[in-house]
Amino acid sequence: MNTTPRSAGADVPSSDSAADELGTSAAQARSAVLEELILKDPGKFRVLTGDRPTGRLHLGHYFGTLHNRVRLQDLGVEMFVIIADYQVLTDRDVADNLTGHVEELVLDYLAIGVDPARSTIFTHSAVPALNQLLLPFLSLVSVAELNRNPTVKDEIAHSRQSSVSGLMFTYPAHQAADILFCKANLVPVGQDQLPHLELTRTIARRFNDRYGNGADVFPQPDALLSNAPLLLGTDGTKMSKSRGNAITLAADADETARLIKGAKTDSERHITYDPATRPEVSSLLLLAALCQNRTPQQVADDIGSAGAAALKRTVTESVNEYLGPIRARRTQYAQDRAYLRETLREGNERARAVADSTLAGVRAAMNSDY
Ligand code: TRP
Repeated sequence: MNTTPRSAGADVPSSDSAADELGTSAAQARSAVLEELILKDPGKFRVLTGDRPTGRLHLGHYFGTLHNRVRLQDLGVEMFVIIADYQVLTDRDVADNLTGHVEELVLDYLAIGVDPARSTIFTHSAVPALNQLLLPFLSLVSVAELNRNPTVKDEIAHSRQSSVSGLMFTYPAHQAADILFCKANLVPVGQDQLPHLELTRTIARRFNDRYGNGADVFPQPDALLSNAPLLLGTDGTKMSKSRGNAITLAADADETARLIKGAKTDSERHITYDPATRPEVSSLLLLAALCQNRTPQQVADDIGSAGAAALKRTVTESVNEYLGPIRARRTQYAQDRAYLRETLREGNERARAVADSTLAGVRAAMNSDY
């Protein structure tokens, strides 16, 4: 692994001000600035991104974040992709079939164009030095701070478990280790991850203040908010695996047709794009538009008064055409389990080398390199 970017450089305006509580609008404004800097000099950025292995990824994931990762990779940004197999232990249902879920995730990554020659795909469990960072990091945050994380609160409220594990409260500090072990300075995320990123920045700042001796051991990474709008599932609520309303990348053309045929619409025949009053129809238009690289209004104008059945035909065709090459690649990779395992083995090895080097720096800074 070559040089480690610290912060993105002197010409990156600092977002480290008291007013910057990373409200969404602040993060959005900052993301626009970052987008320009990425285009100008992709080599200044190192991205850390990832997913919990909960099974197959769907179109909501794809247009929300996955697509953007491949775009960044192809612009020449260095990328680490973590399969968060320790973080996912907060969800007991999923922990039962970890190996299968991890393999599905690697398959999805390869299918959409994550290139293991340029991007490092790895898992928590294979990188001990990353996990070791959690301990000093935990000493830098208070219980009150962990307690008021809105994303964690929300997950607890929606969890079907009878008690809340210690991991549930501490995984955001572990996520800081995911990001900081490779000194990433850019993290493409959805809005729900902003509290975790704010905690990561806090930990980096406090570590530097306490142990840095005037130098920065860790950068304070920026969130890169994607501007992809939210896709609804076939029942009109947010697309999500657990709601059973998702179209997965791996679904075949017939299953896709069946799911879209059953999608909720409304009783108005004339098709218009109006997310506020017609959320279901508008989300279908948006999906077709994303696949066709056009605007939802253009798709709506094409369909006009042909009605919901015509809309669904258009959406089905667009999705199947768009996903065709992705699905073909996925099928091909699925037949080569040895390649999947080799991809992970190599990624884990690269991540371990980076984590070992960071941990060595941390131990030196903390005077614990005996
Ligand atoms: N928390 C993320 C999710 O639930 C997954 C994740 C784990 C992650 N570690 C990360 C995302 C580091 C960004 C950076 O989807």
